[in-house]
Amino acid sequence: MDEQVIDPCSAKRLPKQLPTDPMRWAKAWLDEAVSRKVQRNPNTMTAMTVDENGQPAGRQVLCKDFVEDPGYLVFYTNYKSDKSRHLEHNDRIALLFHWDAFGRQVRLEGRAVRSPAAESDAYYATRDWGSQLGAWGSDQSSPLESRAALIAQVGRRAMKLGVKAATSLKSITVDERPIIPRPPHWGGYRVWPHRIELWIEGEDRIHDRARWERSVEPGEDGAFVVSEWSGTRLQP
Ligand SMILES: Cc1cc2nc3c(=O)[nH]c(=O)nc-3n(C[C@H](O)[C@H](O)[C@H](O)COP(=O)(O)O)c2cc1C
Repeated sequence: MDEQVIDPCSAKRLPKQLPTDPMRWAKAWLDEAVSRKVQRNPNTMTAMTVDENGQPAGRQVLCKDFVEDPGYLVFYTNYKSDKSRHLEHNDRIALLFHWDAFGRQVRLEGRAVRSPAAESDAYYATRDWGSQLGAWGSDQSSPLESRAALIAQVGRRAMKLGVKAATSLKSITVDERPIIPRPPHWGGYRVWPHRIELWIEGEDRIHDRARWERSVEPGEDGAFVVSEWSGTRLQP
C-alpha cells in the first residue's frame, strides 16, 4: 500500500513497510490528541536534559509548534531556568509524548537551539496578558523564601512595567493594561530530532514499535541540515 494514503490516526499498527515520514505520523497523533482533547494539556511532553555532571533531569513542557518539514518542535521557557542552563552546556535533549487514551507514545532525541528572537516575540504576543506578566514575575528555578515573597515580587515587577497598584491583577481592566514586552530571558527552543520512535500499544504487551534515524548537522542561522529518515522495527 502506498504510505501516503495511510492515515496515521486510523492505523491500528505500524504499516508492514515502515513509513519514510515518521514526523508526519507523530504530528498527526499530536493533532488528534489536541483536537479530541484527550487530556487537559494534550501537547504536554516530558523534556529531558543533562546537567553539568551528566545527571539527567526531566520535566513537562508544552509543545507549541511541531514543524514536520524540515522537522523540529518548539517549546517556550525561561532562558535562566535549570533546563536552559543544562542546554547551554549540553544541547542534547530527549522529548517524550504519551497519550494513554490512544495507547500511543512518541520518543524524540536530538539537539536544542534557541528560537529566532522574532519567533519568540510573535508567540509571546499571542499569550494572554497575565501570562505575559508572569514571564517577568518569576525567576524560574531560583530559590524562593515563601509563596508570599513570590506574590510580592510579581506585584513589584508588574508596577515597574507600568501596571497600577492593585490587590489582584484580575481587577485591572483591559484599558488599564500597559503593553508588556517579551522579557529578554524568556523565549523558545527549537528541538531538532535525529531519532524518533513511534509506539502503539498491543495486546498481551506485544506492542508495535519502530525507530527512525537521520543525520542533523548545524547549518546557518540556527537551522540544521537534515537527511532522510531511515526506519527499523524494534521488539517491544
Ligand atoms: C503540564 C505542564 C506544562 C508545563 N509547561 C511548561 C512550559 O511550556 N515551559 C516551562 O518552562 N515550564 C513548563 N512547565 C513547568 C516545568 O515542568 C518545570 O517545573 C519548569 O519549567 C522548571 O523546570 P527546570 O527547573 O527544570 O528548568 C509545565 C509543567 C506542567 C505540569
